[in-house]
Amino acid sequence: MKGIILAGGSGTRLRPLTGTLSKQILPVYDKPMIYYPLSVLMLAGIRDILIISSRSHTAMFRSLLGGGERLGLSIGYAEQEEPNGIAESFLIGADHIGSDQVALILGDNVFHGPGFSSVLQENVGQLDGCTLFGYPVTSPERYGVGEVDQSGRLLSLEEKPQRPRSNLAVTGLYLYDSDVVNIAKNLTPSARGELEITDVNRAYLEQGRARMVELGRGFAWLDMGTHESLLQAGQYVQVLEQRQGERIACVEEVALRMGFISPEECRRLGREMAGSGYGAYLTEVAHRHEASSAA
Ligand code: G1P
Repeated sequence: MKGIILAGGSGTRLRPLTGTLSKQILPVYDKPMIYYPLSVLMLAGIRDILIISSRSHTAMFRSLLGGGERLGLSIGYAEQEEPNGIAESFLIGADHIGSDQVALILGDNVFHGPGFSSVLQENVGQLDGCTLFGYPVTSPERYGVGEVDQSGRLLSLEEKPQRPRSNLAVTGLYLYDSDVVNIAKNLTPSARGELEITDVNRAYLEQGRARMVELGRGFAWLDMGTHESLLQAGQYVQVLEQRQGERIACVEEVALRMGFISPEECRRLGREMAGSGYGAYLTEVAHRHEASSAA
């Protein structure tokens, strides 16, 4: 399966923070925002990833992550010239997807919860058509809203409905088979002139090939479009990390756990960041990993 991170948009609601920086590079406590969605794709076992951003921001992501080799990944870059909608990702990324399946994740989404990597890997393994991830929220009218039957089959889907049929918001993580490219090619832009991801999902729904997995109690799904939500996400990460001594979305640690890099490579990355708590953590993680493999 291929991966795409959509890190486009101009971050209007976060100005002046986004005056020169891309929103998805802003700090969320101890790491750049894009580490959070990147770690989700890695936990799903995906190593071939395309980052789509606006032209003026591509260089920033490239200098942060390069070709991905240091994390045992292959990372490519593409531009979305205008904010033409989330579904344009499949047109921009058509060559990257080829005849493979694809996971798309929005660059400003944080997912965190127990057992998430198993949930991801299970759903990647069983994918038939499209799989969405639903999250109960108190204000569903701000999101895509889905209704599911007991087996997880999607029954209805509406974008920002005035009268939501459920409290399940469609989160910014989507799994598709390779039909998604053709579906996106045949979309008509919505009233706001965008290729809507909800129209892609509805095409699968009409074929009876759309599922939605509920990420329920105890799980955290946060998006970071405003100053308040950006700070809240940072506080969430800080509280958990400080309390437990484990970092969330530490991409080097995920690479090590997934077997994409060796403990020695992890230690080297730690040394490069010596002087920061993050660097020291990488060194510790490499030691712990070796000790547990030896045991
Ligand atoms: C988009 C999707 C919506 C989804 C949301 C998740 O909305 O259109 O269905 O629930 O992302 O963050 P937007 O953020 O573009 O308003």
